[in-house]
Amino acid sequence: MSDLKITVIDHPLVRHKLSLMREKDCSTYKFRTLTKELARLMAYEASRDFEIETFPMEGWCGEIIGEQIIGKTATIVPILRAGIGMLDGVLDLIPTAKISVVGLQRDEETLQPVPFFEKFVSHMDKRPALIIDPMLATGGSMVATIEMLKKNGCTNIKALVLVAAPEGVRVVNEAHPDVTIYTAALDSHLDEHGYIIPGLGDAGDKIFGKQ
Ligand code: PRP
Ligand code: URA
Repeated sequence: MSDLKITVIDHPLVRHKLSLMREKDCSTYKFRTLTKELARLMAYEASRDFEIETFPMEGWCGEIIGEQIIGKTATIVPILRAGIGMLDGVLDLIPTAKISVVGLQRDEETLQPVPFFEKFVSHMDKRPALIIDPMLATGGSMVATIEMLKKNGCTNIKALVLVAAPEGVRVVNEAHPDVTIYTAALDSHLDEHGYIIPGLGDAGDKIFGKQ
């Protein structure tokens, strides 16, 4: 797995919270709360290389040098449905972010992503984009989302996923080597139904309630 390009956020809080989510009978409330908390921690790491500039400002004791993030505000891109569960956590850290939305439903037979919605904010070519989705399984949904973003001019794309399967990371790395992926855990493998093992089960059902 050492050839995979992915940043695993190795932090005690992240590891603790993710284990709570893996519990067999984790309630919808607990799963949703932990999804948000993890998203917040991951956004902190994923925004680490945002560029800043200095500027002169008036402080309480006189003229000082302030710092501010430069460039157009980032756009967060939740993949419907499960990605919505991470949105508030990321917004806690980047409250001025703009939100673009991609709707994809993974066909449970073919495992192929079926697009059903897309709406992007203006100036996508000038904004860093943070795709959010709890699960990176076969990688099909992530690749389709990255392609939609690139078609709309995006050049600075990161992906935040709670759990990733090596198979999916490889697919995304090969198709889009410029995209940085952050995860709380790189798990073992996919099962015959395309579920991540040990994974979290069906993240969308656990965040929203079973369909
Ligand atoms: C899940 C998940 C990802 C996708 C990952 O969504 O949230 O979007 O599957 O699978 P992949 O890497 O094999 O494409 P799903 O399509 O089940 O929809 P949901 O969010 O509505 O539950
Ligand atoms: N979607 C999920 O919700 N879980 C998986 O393990 C794979 C895809």
